Amino acid sequence: MSNPTPDPMMPKPGFPTTRMRRNRYDDWTRRLVAENQLSANDLIWPVFVHGGDEARIDIPTLPGVARLSIEQLIKDVGEAKSVGIPLVAVFPVVDPDKKTDEAEEAYNADNLVCRAVAAVKEAHDGIGIMCDVALDPFTSHGHDGLLRDGYIVNDETLEVLCKQAVVQAKAGCDVIAPSDMMDGRAGAIRTALDAEGFQHVRIMAYAAKYASALYGPFRDAVGSAPNLGDGDKKTYQMDPANSDEALREVALDIEEGADMVMVKPGLFYLDILQRVKEAFSMPTFAYQVSGEYAMLKVAGQQGLVDGERVMDEALLAFKRAGANGILTYAALETAKKLG
Ligand code: PBG
Repeated sequence: MSNPTPDPMMPKPGFPTTRMRRNRYDDWTRRLVAENQLSANDLIWPVFVHGGDEARIDIPTLPGVARLSIEQLIKDVGEAKSVGIPLVAVFPVVDPDKKTDEAEEAYNADNLVCRAVAAVKEAHDGIGIMCDVALDPFTSHGHDGLLRDGYIVNDETLEVLCKQAVVQAKAGCDVIAPSDMMDGRAGAIRTALDAEGFQHVRIMAYAAKYASALYGPFRDAVGSAPNLGDGDKKTYQMDPANSDEALREVALDIEEGADMVMVKPGLFYLDILQRVKEAFSMPTFAYQVSGEYAMLKVAGQQGLVDGERVMDEALLAFKRAGANGILTYAALETAKKLG
């Protein structure tokens, strides 16, 4: 087939008729044509809570982030709420002497994370609280599941994860976030929650979570790094080489009842984020993890880059790739600025 005859009345496409720079001419035009925008509604704020009285204990490898006492957590969640952050993810710093091989503390209804969640829910409404479901803060070996003969066993771990999810829901947790990458956990947890009457508790699955080197500062923050030692999580977290496999992982979590899905880490995995959003049209989230956050922060502090602007650019990149929202340690400072 030949090309249609060009209409002599129509301007020829391309330069000089088309000048892409016109829409970049001034600030208001750029704002008008912007395809993506970051707002406080897009931000999920991960926070660390410890069991002591000290209001804030700095985390050396995570600049600007501290472990908070429960009392301080309540104040800071109040601040997050006041700047429009919809959801806070609470991570416990568990006492080393409460960590065991079988992670019993994970389903102690009076454990630190449950007490923290209950206290925050008591103090505030109108802001959601999310909790990880995974055993790594509670195991003596630092793994997300139960260890048998050097291997993290799947189905036995599921039973513990279900008990953990139920105590967290009872404490008032709104969103359960399985981050362990065991097979079948989303479905098992959904069934366990429903059996206890928690039909409304949402599941945000860490659906495509990679065995990444970027989790180091987080493991320092929750104190699981010394327990894990040289161990790695490659028999359950995904191989960074893989992309199709992420779609299979996400499909399974959706089938099993996940309400929202997450890709983790963030910036190195924007291709995965985009594929997941396109394939499933699910509420899809990205986790800007501790290592990537720390790298940007430190580069800013050292004056290598403008730290604030690179952070804003990174967060906008998640939106452009298709994220409905982003878990970031920079959520509070960013939401304050956007306000
Ligand atoms: C626990 C968990 C991890 C992170 C979130 N939940 C660490 C891990 O899987 O080893 C990482 C978050 C971050 O690095 O900011 N399973």
